[in-house]
Amino acid sequence: MALVPTMGFFHEGHLSLMRVAGSKADRVVVSLFVNPAQFGPNEDLNHYPRNFEQDAKLAEDNGVSCLFCPDAKDIYPPRFQTWIRVEGLSQGLCGASRPEHFRGVATIVAKLLIIVQPDLAIFGQKDFQQLQVIRRMVRDLNIPVNIIAHPIVREPDGLAMSSRNTYLNAQERESALSLVQALRLAEKMVAHGSRSGPEVIQTVRKHIQSFGNTKIDYVFLCDPESLKPCREIVGETLLALAVWVGKTRLIDNTLLKQ
Ligand code: PAJ
Repeated sequence: MALVPTMGFFHEGHLSLMRVAGSKADRVVVSLFVNPAQFGPNEDLNHYPRNFEQDAKLAEDNGVSCLFCPDAKDIYPPRFQTWIRVEGLSQGLCGASRPEHFRGVATIVAKLLIIVQPDLAIFGQKDFQQLQVIRRMVRDLNIPVNIIAHPIVREPDGLAMSSRNTYLNAQERESALSLVQALRLAEKMVAHGSRSGPEVIQTVRKHIQSFGNTKIDYVFLCDPESLKPCREIVGETLLALAVWVGKTRLIDNTLLKQ
């Protein structure tokens, strides 16, 4: 049995995870839970997009056997006080500006794995740090599940699909393209022989800043396993971005190959 953990408001990224799960397991369980513990005090928990009727239909159409939608009061009952922290991997990148985020993610994913007991669980590479945090947790805690990574699913113009894209107005939607364009620029630089981390980062930052209404949270080059920063592009290097476009924080990444 396969588990696909989600927070709902399904798009093609979620649906392709569900279909891959169906090709690898006899039954697919999708969890739909907007997890309060992974949102910071000033983040968008209360505005996070929700559409249960549509999600239920999309899940059914994509071969899902069970949609698991627990209540927050059952997941975090009174006096709840047990948290999972994946220490090093949670600290940089998104962890720097969202200090308790990965504690919330690791704890809910561990709980879902314990409740559902799947043979495999599928996660998208769009949330690359999340994927590595979960892989580490599963190894460190000997959780008997196979974690499968799924590539980033994009809109036809390249924007990485995200439930949060719905927050963007027309002008912000244009600026949001700066992320994928910057990643493609970096890939080209590396293909043409550039190995200098600072040079690639500078080009990426400049490109994003040339669009209106963008504010960079981070542009980071690191080892994809340890997430430790790299100054030189050797072997496979992760280039990860987080950018505010208006009031919406978007993330994207690519693996640069020497
Ligand atoms: P959510 O943002 O709903 O994403 C659910 C799953 O879909 C995650 O594994 C995410 O990486 C994947 N996903 C989202 N957009 C994608 C895209 N464009 N391409 C490929 N995969 C994509 O991530 C979460 O929820 C939560 O943190 C969760 C793991 C459910 C824990 O609460």
